Amino acid sequence: MEASVATHTLYGPFSQILTMADLPDAGPIADEALQVLENAGVLVSGGKIIRVDDYIRLSQEAEQYDYAVEPFEEPMVLLPGLIDAHTHICFAGSRANDYAMRVAGKSYLEIARSGGGILDSVRKTREATVIELVELLKQRCDRHLREGVTTCEVKSGYGLSVDDELKMLEAIQLVNKHHPLELVPTCLAAHMRPPEFTDSKAYLRTVLDELLPAIKEKNLASRVDIFIEDTAFTEKESVEYLLEAKKAGFDLTVHADQFSTGGSRVAAEVGALSADHLEASSDAEIDLLRNAGVVATVLPGASLGLGMHYASARKMLDGGLCLAIATDWNPGSAPMGDLLMQAALLGAAEKLTTAETLAAITTRAARALNLPDKGQLAKGFAADMIAFPTADYKEILYFQGKLKPHKVWKNGQEV
Ligand code: NIG
Ligand code: FE
Repeated sequence: MEASVATHTLYGPFSQILTMADLPDAGPIADEALQVLENAGVLVSGGKIIRVDDYIRLSQEAEQYDYAVEPFEEPMVLLPGLIDAHTHICFAGSRANDYAMRVAGKSYLEIARSGGGILDSVRKTREATVIELVELLKQRCDRHLREGVTTCEVKSGYGLSVDDELKMLEAIQLVNKHHPLELVPTCLAAHMRPPEFTDSKAYLRTVLDELLPAIKEKNLASRVDIFIEDTAFTEKESVEYLLEAKKAGFDLTVHADQFSTGGSRVAAEVGALSADHLEASSDAEIDLLRNAGVVATVLPGASLGLGMHYASARKMLDGGLCLAIATDWNPGSAPMGDLLMQAALLGAAEKLTTAETLAAITTRAARALNLPDKGQLAKGFAADMIAFPTADYKEILYFQGKLKPHKVWKNGQEV
């Protein structure tokens, strides 16, 4: 059989395939609920999964097609490609200086108030050309892909002017066209009020009137985010801004309850897809998010980077929330950017089951981004797959991020 004419590819046999299919949309997940197929394979055509099944049965079924085989000698566990549902990896410069100040005792908000923090990255990102941003973003995408991330949300938010925000989103779009890591762009022009404006309302007005229509026209993003906090935007400003963005056709997400509560309330009120951070959230916020069907995306990388406590992920699951875990990879609060390691560490600290942690970086992360064909290995889903060199899926979290994928496929293509 000629590989060149093959319409189908059969991958396997894998010691185990964790499909991440048929799990509850929200709330706790017992490990017994995980579908673990032994000695199984995946049949793929046109970048989509046709079937996941016992390898022998699947190879018999594949006989009816022209098919190529991707066989494996060593034991291997297959998982859906990881999804990082919250990052800021389009930026220039380093904030190692901020980090040194923080570990020496200054707080994140103190550093921000004294002109460091986000505005420092804004200065450097404004100075960078699109080409420079593309190059930096590509390097981070390469690393993510190697570590098993096949879909990644990326925010703007270090431009904070119409032109500089467009420049960031254009860089993201360029990389998305040419890099196998699939990017989901989000406009975070409402990250902070830029120094050129003395009034937040006036700045948000400019974003609504000038930036969002340009983003729509150039098809640069379909999601809008805002940072709700003392040093950023108030609840009232945020609700007004988000509702107008929603009317203009954007999906919503919110930086919520990182240091103080209020953001969850906004996320629930405007019907955001997700509320992200949630380190300061407690029972009242969990109730609000559950009742409004908002996904809780927690960001252990920001807790690690800032040396602060994790979000109460266990409580959120027990309170019935859909929990996603993302890196928040950014130059300031979360420079590490290792999704699997961070999910494993959070899971250990918060007592999450293996199923809950893995769902939070696959199928439930797909829900946070509203990507119905990602995050599971099942018929009709994208063939985004990662294979770990082990015969036991439990070793993946056990090694806390040090066991790296041996192979990564995006839409069935090895990358
Ligand atoms: O999610 N909280 C606000 N924004 C980012 C931090 C960005 C930065 O510090 O550059 C966050 O942690
Ligand atoms: Fe963030």
